[in-house]
Amino acid sequence: MRRKVGTDEETVLNNQDFYAGQQGYMDRVRRLAASIYERTPMACVITYGCQQNVSDSERTKGMLEQMGYTLTEEPAEADFVLYNTCAVREHAEERVYGNLGAMKHLKRRKPDMILGLCGCMAQQGRVGDRIRRSYPYVDLLFGTHVQHRLPEFLYRCLSMHERVFETDDSEPCVTEGMPVHRDGSYKAWLPVMYGCNNFCTYCIVPYVRGRERSRNPEDVLKEAKELIAAGYKDITLLGQNVNSYGKGEAHGVNFAGLLRQINDLPGDFRIRFMTSHPKDCTDELLDAMRDCGKVCHHLHLPFQSGSDRILKAMNRHYDRAGYLALVEAARKRMPDIQLTSDIIVGFPGETREDFEQTLSLIKEVRFASLFTFIYSPREGTPAAQMPDPVSRQEKGQWFEELLRTQEAIAKENNAKLIGRVLKVLCDDHGRTPDYMAGHSGENIVVEFPGTPDDLGKFFTVKIVSLDHVLKGEVLG
Ligand code: 5AD
Ligand code: SF4
Repeated sequence: MRRKVGTDEETVLNNQDFYAGQQGYMDRVRRLAASIYERTPMACVITYGCQQNVSDSERTKGMLEQMGYTLTEEPAEADFVLYNTCAVREHAEERVYGNLGAMKHLKRRKPDMILGLCGCMAQQGRVGDRIRRSYPYVDLLFGTHVQHRLPEFLYRCLSMHERVFETDDSEPCVTEGMPVHRDGSYKAWLPVMYGCNNFCTYCIVPYVRGRERSRNPEDVLKEAKELIAAGYKDITLLGQNVNSYGKGEAHGVNFAGLLRQINDLPGDFRIRFMTSHPKDCTDELLDAMRDCGKVCHHLHLPFQSGSDRILKAMNRHYDRAGYLALVEAARKRMPDIQLTSDIIVGFPGETREDFEQTLSLIKEVRFASLFTFIYSPREGTPAAQMPDPVSRQEKGQWFEELLRTQEAIAKENNAKLIGRVLKVLCDDHGRTPDYMAGHSGENIVVEFPGTPDDLGKFFTVKIVSLDHVLKGEVLG
């Protein structure tokens, strides 16, 4: 179902309409591609950025399969190559431009190949202008708001040999009913809300993903049930701001309520979620995490900076003391909880003293791991206009210091885990033969003796040593 969000004005375009509209194009693409390529057409989707993008790509791949494409990881083999891009930092954008440049030769060799760009970068007008001007061999560009119209765009490319550029700036809705090609067979992404209303001053996300809108709980539960029935063991609920799920929606279910409903579904599986904003991390949510046996005791709670002055400039709506109080509240309810976070180093105007506040916060909280980033100015965001006197070199030195500090903390944390007994989902090969690897609910990675037959199964593992990685023995 496609709904206008935040109002009771239901059903702008319903499920059937979406399918009726796009299904026709799917059939036409299927016939046209078969006649152009005279064999099963191949498609390659290359994904950058966050889990939301990975999840979007799974739906794009689902549509491509329905249009008769076989998926490949190899762009040189493909008749349709699509880059699903990220705009959060400049580095991610530069990589896409670099890779597009390299595609020029492939496109010359295979003129029937369609080359496309979608995702957060593509939603920005300035990117569309640059691609139009400087990359004439890119056939298709569409933004996050019109992702579900891929069949129609592909049909136009194939039938009319025209360049298709579509970034519709109107407020996007929630589109249900898209087919999904899951990349994994025991871990799955389950999007529950889209967009962001927070406008942190450094962040491009609210501009490229639109306002917050949540899926209906019935749609989320239906997908969760399908995943459990298909044997998925580890389900991550996704949203840019996942714990604001349900705000402004008529259905009245908030994120804590949604967790409880999914937890009540029968089956041996576990539930994760990301990413949470501290300002929406309520006692009610922490209570639900404590009470729900299937919800993992892992909380990814970005704090971004340990300095109140910088948090204010970032428009984060909490302060250092408030964040520390949340950590205490979470640990009081769940003593085994593992915390992870995102940090930005070198926000405009950040001083050495501010940075030291960040260092002291990580020493105080002792996170299991961190995602650390050097600030990257994003055109159109307020922070990009702020004076930024600290040199890139100095920011680099702070960044290294942060990494070294966290490395020492993680080592100490890991050493304390020896003797702990964990429920581990085997999800990878170990670094040495005869060993497999897996994640516990707390997101602790451990290696243990096993074989590839163990993939996708739960084991009770006792941690016995730390030698670069944690090693354990299987108890059951
Ligand atoms: N520069 C650096 N890091 C950023 N992030 C978001 N925007 C920027 C930016 N402009 C980081 C934040 C966020 C994570 C997904 O990316 O830490 O939590
Ligand atoms: Fe960006 Fe802030 Fe929204 Fe996260 S919460 S996506 S950092 S604006």
